[in-house]
Amino acid sequence: MVTKRSERPDERHPAFDQNLLALFAPRSVAVVGASRDPSKLGYLVLRNVRTSGFPGPIYPVNPGARRIQGLPAYPSVVSIPSSVDLAIIVVPQPAVLSVVRDCAAKRVRAAIIITSGFRETGPLGAKAEEEIVSVARSAGMRVLGPNCLGIIDTVTPLNASFAARMPSPNGIAFMSQSGALGAAILDWAAARDLGFSKFVSLGNEADVTESDLLRVWEYDGSVRVVSAYLEGISDGGRFRRVASEATRRRPVVILKAGRTAAGSRAVVSHTGALAGSDAAYSAAFRQAGVIRVQSLEELFDSSLAFSSQPLPSGRELTIVTNAGGPSIVATDAAEMHGLKLTPLTHRTTDELRRQLPPAASVTNPIDVLGDAGPDLYRAAIDLVLADPRGDALLVILTPQLKTDAEDTARVVVEAHRQTNRPIIACFMGSAGVRSAIATLSAGGIPNYPFPERAVAALGAMADYADLKKRPTERPRRFTVDQTRVRNVITKARAAGRPNLDSFEAAQVVAAYGIPIPRAALARSLDQAVQAAEEIGFPVVLKVASPDIVHKSEVGGVRVGIQSPDEVRRAYDEICAAVAVRAPSARIDGIGVWAMARAGTETIVGLSVDPTFGHVLLFGLGGIFVEVIKDVSFRIVPITSADAAEMIREIRAFPVLQGARGRPPSDLSAISDVLERVSQLAEDFPEIRELDINPLVAYPPPRGTLAVDVRLSLSL
Ligand code: COA
Repeated sequence: MVTKRSERPDERHPAFDQNLLALFAPRSVAVVGASRDPSKLGYLVLRNVRTSGFPGPIYPVNPGARRIQGLPAYPSVVSIPSSVDLAIIVVPQPAVLSVVRDCAAKRVRAAIIITSGFRETGPLGAKAEEEIVSVARSAGMRVLGPNCLGIIDTVTPLNASFAARMPSPNGIAFMSQSGALGAAILDWAAARDLGFSKFVSLGNEADVTESDLLRVWEYDGSVRVVSAYLEGISDGGRFRRVASEATRRRPVVILKAGRTAAGSRAVVSHTGALAGSDAAYSAAFRQAGVIRVQSLEELFDSSLAFSSQPLPSGRELTIVTNAGGPSIVATDAAEMHGLKLTPLTHRTTDELRRQLPPAASVTNPIDVLGDAGPDLYRAAIDLVLADPRGDALLVILTPQLKTDAEDTARVVVEAHRQTNRPIIACFMGSAGVRSAIATLSAGGIPNYPFPERAVAALGAMADYADLKKRPTERPRRFTVDQTRVRNVITKARAAGRPNLDSFEAAQVVAAYGIPIPRAALARSLDQAVQAAEEIGFPVVLKVASPDIVHKSEVGGVRVGIQSPDEVRRAYDEICAAVAVRAPSARIDGIGVWAMARAGTETIVGLSVDPTFGHVLLFGLGGIFVEVIKDVSFRIVPITSADAAEMIREIRAFPVLQGARGRPPSDLSAISDVLERVSQLAEDFPEIRELDINPLVAYPPPRGTLAVDVRLSLSL
C-alpha cells in the first residue's frame, strides 16, 4: 500500500515521557551481545539495525571482539565514546542485569531486552526482572521486554529486532503481546503488501506497556491506526484513561485473546456468575472507544481500511458490482454490521438507467452486469459519488469473460482521488485479478478477497466514526446519604460478616436514592403484625439473615399476605422452615415488606473484575437471568449515555419499550438506578457484589422499585 510518510510525533503531550521516544527514533544505537556468528541472535539484530537504513551511529558491544560486521566494537556500553540513546540487549540472561546497570550509568534513554528467562519462567526470573526495572527506573531509562522480539519503526527507519524482514511503511502501528505471533504476522503481511509504521513485540512488559505505546502513538503523525494483539492488560484503570483519550485522535483496534471464565472464587450473586472477565474487557473497550475484533483477519482487514481511507460520515453504503451473488452476500453482511444500503436519489437512478444497459440494476446494489467494462464502472461510480446520499462505496468485481480488471482498478483509484468518502474494493479471484489488486493497492485502495470481509472493515470504520462523535460526558453525581451506608458497612465488617442481610442491603440502595418498598424489621410475631398493619396489606415476609443468600430455597419468603392471621401463619412457617433448613444461620429478624405491584422485572448488579474493578450489569430479571444471559455490562463509573446504551443493548429491549401490548417501562428511571449504583460502587470500593433482582420497572412516570437486594463486601 502506498503511504504518505510523515514526520515524528506531530504534537507534544504535556505528560509525554520523551525517553519512550528513544525506543522508536533514537539518535544512536548500541547492540549489546552483537556477534560475528551468523547463527546467533546478536548477529541478526546487529545486521537488522545496520541494513534497515538507520541514519545514526551503531555501536556493537562485545568484550571479545574488536570489529563486528565491519563496525568497531566496544567491550562494554560505558566504553562507548559518545552518547547512546537506545541499547538493544541480546546477552545471556545472567549477564543482563549488569548490562542494564552499565546502560543506566551511561544515561542510555531506553533499552530493548530481547533475552528471555525472566518472569515467564517463574519466581526467580520474576525477581531478576524486578531488579532490572528498579535499576532502570532509578535512572529514568525505559525498558521494552524482556523476552521480546524487539521494535521496528519504518519511519526512522530502524529494525531493532531479530525479525527476518523489515515491513514496508504504512499507517498501521501494531503491538503484540506474543512475539511468535508478531513474527508470523510480519511474514504474512509481507506477502499481502501490508505495511506498518511501527511494529512492537511487548514481551513481559516489565516496564513499557500497551498503555505507554497508546500514549506515544496518539501523538505520532505517522500513525493512522493503532492495532493490537493483547492477551491481558496490566493496569486496567490506566488503560481506560489512556485509551479514552487516544481513541479521540486515532482508531484503536484490538484483538483480545484468552476468553477466561469468571474466577474460581465462590460467586453468590447472579451478577457474579454472569460477569466473566471477557465481558469486562468488552465493556472497557467500548467505553474507551476501542474497536474490538474477534480474529486476526478482522484485525488486519479493519486496520488496512483505517490506514488508507477517510472515515465515513454515516452508515450508508453503496455497492457497485458486476455480479449478483457477491452483492447479496455484501448486503447481508451490511445488515449484520448495522450498515444500510444507501437509498439513491431519483436523479441518480434516472441517470444510471440512461447510462447503463437496460438489464442493469439501477438501485443499490448497482449491478453493471457481467460483461461490464471499465467505462460502465466509471459511469456508475461517478454517479453514486455525485449523489448527496451515501457514506461509503464498495466496488465488487468478479473476473468474467470480458472483464478488464486492471483498467477497472484504475477507474476506482481515480475515483478515490476525487472523493472524501471511503472506497474499498472486493476484486474476487486469484490470477485474474492479481495485477488489478496491485494497482488498487498502489492507489491506496484496500482490496478484500470476499465481500463480507470488505463490509466488516467498513462496519468497523462506521463504528469508530460513531464512537468519535459521542460527546465527552462526566458521570453524574447524586446527593446521597453516604453516612447511612458507611454505618451499615462498618457494622457488618466489625462483625466479620461479608454478606448483608436483605434488610440492610435494601437500606444501602435506599440511601443512594433508589426506591425500595416500604419495610420494617420485625423481631417478634407481634411486631410483624403491627408492621404489616402500618405498611398496609398485601405484604411479603422475608427472613433477614446475612447467612442466607437464597432465601426462597430455605422457605424464607412468603408473598401475597392479606391479613394479620396470614402474617402470623407465615411468620411461624418461615421460622420453622429456616430452623430446619438453615439451622446455624444467624437470624436478624423477619422483614415485613409492602408487596410490590407487578411490573417488568429487571436486574441491576455489580461485581469486581480483577483488571478493571467494578463492573455494572443490566438485564431482564427473574430466575432465568443466568440461563438466558441477555445482559449488558459497563465498567464503573458510567455516564448517562452509558446507562442509556446498557438498557438499549439487551436483546429484550423491545419488552421494555412495551412490545406486544405491554406497557412501556420508565427507561429514565432505570437509567437513574444504574447511575446511582455506579456512584455507590465508586464511593464504596469494598462492595464486592450487589444484585438488585428484581428491580421492578413501571410505566413512566412511576419509576422503579428495588424489590430484592443482595450485597456482599470484601472484608
Ligand atoms: N556484554 C556484551 N556481550 C556479551 C556479554 C556482555 N556482558 N556477555 C556475553 N556477550 C556476548 C557473547 O560473547 C556472545 O558473542 P560471541 O558470539 O561473539 O561470543 C553474545 O553476547 C551472545 O552470547 P551467547 O552466550 O552466545 O548467547 P546466545 O546467543 O546463545 O543467547 C540470547 C543469547 C539472548 C539469544 C538467549 O539468552 C535468549 O534469551 N534467547 C531467547 C530469545 C527470545 O526468544 N526472546 C523472545 C522472543 S519473543
